[in-house]
Amino acid sequence: MRDKIIEVILGSGSDFVSGEELSKKLGISRTAIWKHINILREEGYNIESVNKKGYRLIGSPKDLLNPQNIYHNLKTEFIGKNIIHLESVDSTNDYLKKIGNDVQDGTVVISEEQTKGKGRLGRNWQSKSKEGIWMSIILKPEIIPYKAPFITLIAGAAIVKALNNLQVPANIKWPNDIIINNKKVSGILTELSAEIERINYVVVGIGMNVKSLDFDKELEEKATSLYKENYHLSRVEIVSQVLYEFENLYNDYIKNDYKEEILKICKEYSAILNKDVYIIKDDEKELVKCIDISDNGNLIVMDDKDNIQEILSGEVSI
Ligand code: BTN
Repeated sequence: MRDKIIEVILGSGSDFVSGEELSKKLGISRTAIWKHINILREEGYNIESVNKKGYRLIGSPKDLLNPQNIYHNLKTEFIGKNIIHLESVDSTNDYLKKIGNDVQDGTVVISEEQTKGKGRLGRNWQSKSKEGIWMSIILKPEIIPYKAPFITLIAGAAIVKALNNLQVPANIKWPNDIIINNKKVSGILTELSAEIERINYVVVGIGMNVKSLDFDKELEEKATSLYKENYHLSRVEIVSQVLYEFENLYNDYIKNDYKEEILKICKEYSAILNKDVYIIKDDEKELVKCIDISDNGNLIVMDDKDNIQEILSGEVSI
């Protein structure tokens, strides 16, 4: 019976199938359908149910972010060779920071859900169960701490490249928002543990809305998911691609001090270069024209008096 239910729901793609239709097609009661749906959910199928519309399949167990599924696809040398997969955690960044000294370089923590997902600037990051990719990578580079912020840029370049490889026309909104159709689909939160001259570790947290359909009120206009933009991709495939692209660019930077490719990607996929944007800092808003990204990853802008400024941090609004 479960296979028949999956077949019917799967056959209807992104449309809903009503409980009544399922019950007629399969010759069992709606209560029986409901029980089967719950069992399927326990097995890892992500089935959405909406009052008066019915059911639709959003993800299958093949799409669970467990090590078996990811190792099968992964082509990296050290990133993701150790994967810790959790059902639920407060924040993958916080989890990884607690065990940071005891795990190997490149360890990845992925959770199906975060109960206290953290965004930049002290914001929350909505991380509902199986709706996205909530993962953190630990890195232990032998570089001086001031070179660490560039790693965020590498993550942004890796995500945008991975998505474009998968035919998703994503762009980067400096410093590190990944957007589609002007809405944010992915963000990066990098945290550092360091002494004055040496890095203990860097934790790069990546959040990507893959299947999310509803966002909290204050995010509704600004956020989107791949699914909402009509890109139905496997989370496993995306994770493998992102880790692969990240490792290549990261090795360029750490081993060879080579930044050109990273900067090229950031410029090529930039959503703001040559455009007028607002720079927001400490409740102040300034209209500027974006001219370039510097070798250090800073934003070069021209203000309304034609002065050139280099912006090191802050937020941009298009
Ligand atoms: C942002 O754009 O504000 C950054 C969002 C970063 C979210 C990710 S999800 C995985 C990792 N764990 C967290 O608590 N945050 C990051």
